[in-house]
Amino acid sequence: MRIVLLGAPGAGKGTQCKRIVERYGVQHLSSGDILRRERAEGTQLGAKAQSYMDSGRLVPDELIVEMMGGAIAKAPQAGYVLDGFPRTVNQAKELNSTLASDGSGIDAVVNLKIDDKVILERMTGRRSCPKCGAVYHIKNLKPKIEGKCDKDGADLVVRPDDEPQVVKERLATYQAQTKPVVGYYKKSGRVLELDAGKNADAVSAKLFEMLDNFVSD
Ligand code: AP5
Ligand code: MG
Repeated sequence: MRIVLLGAPGAGKGTQCKRIVERYGVQHLSSGDILRRERAEGTQLGAKAQSYMDSGRLVPDELIVEMMGGAIAKAPQAGYVLDGFPRTVNQAKELNSTLASDGSGIDAVVNLKIDDKVILERMTGRRSCPKCGAVYHIKNLKPKIEGKCDKDGADLVVRPDDEPQVVKERLATYQAQTKPVVGYYKKSGRVLELDAGKNADAVSAKLFEMLDNFVSD
């Protein structure tokens, strides 16, 4: 099963992907998480990506396409869910041709739709685990022990790009460069549209209802 989860920053891609992994046993491939890991490990790619990420701009396509191509090639037989990639029409085309050359393609494209007003509240309250990438919210999705990850007990952190000024920039980048990706997929097939403004359990319930159809096909 190969899934693409689209949506603006803060739509809940990471949150829902973790649940998709638990239900369908696919691998979560988040371009943002991979880039943050590269930065934490001090790699050349991480260093190149840093200024783009911290200012809310996109990392150049060629770096991302190579990085994600490598991750997809190593994904298990069960498949994967892509989170944050593709993020430009060019990346979507590159992904398409890579998969086509292996005789495969994407099975389901889901678009998480969300109002800009909700996004800022979600981002400023987000807390992330630097170790496993689990995502919490100080009001909506609290960890069991304040400030600690439920899974590994690591100290939760605020992502540097969740500063309100950077969030604004990320939203502008989304409108200009990523929203057209939805149109790109709509031209070539069906995009499953999902209201991501509801609480996380309600969003998951609807999402699983949609994806279960693909599993049973
Ligand atoms: P990335 O890490 O992908 O960030 P993003 O797309 O901006 O998305 P987020 O992770 O901020 O949001 P999310 O949708 O995952 O929401 P979450 O589940 O955390 O990318 C970071 C940067 O890396 C980019 O800016 C760019 O520079 C670079 N990059 C990455 N991929 C790239 C690419 N392909 N090309 C070029 N550059 C790339 O939820 C948010 C908060 O809301 C959490 O606190 C959560 O607990 C809460 N929440 C979630 N769902 C709900 C709900 N239903 N109700 C209430 N609260 C909820
Ligand atoms: Mg995320």
